[in-house]
Amino acid sequence: MADYFDKALIFTDLHITPAGETIIGLDPLARFKQGLAHALDRHPDAQHIILLGDLTHTGSPAEYARLAPALADCPIPITVTMGNHDLRDHLRVPFPQAFNTDGFAQTALDLGPLRLLILDTHDYEGRAPLIHDGWICDTRLAWLDAELARAVTDAKHVVVFAHHPPCPVGFWAMDAIGLANADALLSRLHAAPHVRHLICGHIHRTIHASAANPAGGALPVSVLKSPCHQIPMILGEGTSSDSVDEPGAYGILLALKDTIVLHTEDFALSDGSVRTYE
Ligand SMILES: [Fe+2]
Repeated sequence: MADYFDKALIFTDLHITPAGETIIGLDPLARFKQGLAHALDRHPDAQHIILLGDLTHTGSPAEYARLAPALADCPIPITVTMGNHDLRDHLRVPFPQAFNTDGFAQTALDLGPLRLLILDTHDYEGRAPLIHDGWICDTRLAWLDAELARAVTDAKHVVVFAHHPPCPVGFWAMDAIGLANADALLSRLHAAPHVRHLICGHIHRTIHASAANPAGGALPVSVLKSPCHQIPMILGEGTSSDSVDEPGAYGILLALKDTIVLHTEDFALSDGSVRTYE
């Protein structure tokens, strides 16, 4: 199938808890295992798996220690980045390869004709005004600048990944804890016509948006659901902890010759069997 398209799988907001602890009655590790097994069964041809932050609920060593065995036998290479619920020193224990020489969980991967640039939006220095909002510091932005330039040299189109969306999505409590220096990111992406798409997590719901470029045009933005708990579809007022038990999901990124496609696959509350009606 690789001569038709190249494929990557994306899981975000796993929120693994310590053993015996649940979130609105759901076991995040059980949900993630279910989703990963579903994905590996149906997409063994995927070339990469990306875990787009919030791997754990509180960033504790016990939570990362529960996640690592669930990934140990995965036959597809896994790339990890940070979310607001992660802690770098604890995530580094099972995933030392996640961090580049700058000390940030930023990675560049090739997927057929695409270059995937995975950003680290965790606010290490408390630069953003709230605890859970995101921030990309100058060091990380310099890495992005260099990678965007390298992609031009290599004639690659680019898909960027960031845990925190840089645009509002209509849930006010989540919009308040988005990417606090969103303009620093968007100004760079808008100035790079080879950037084709931005994929985010953090919100726990499937969302399609476009971030307008003041100079014209817009960048398409997609937000993926969690494999575990979702934010209820109550727009406007609410809290960032409002959650609902709806089917968990993961993303499937396809790189075709001239087109980028992002599918979302709900895996829970369904046996996934394909039937034909008459
Ligand atoms: Fe998050």
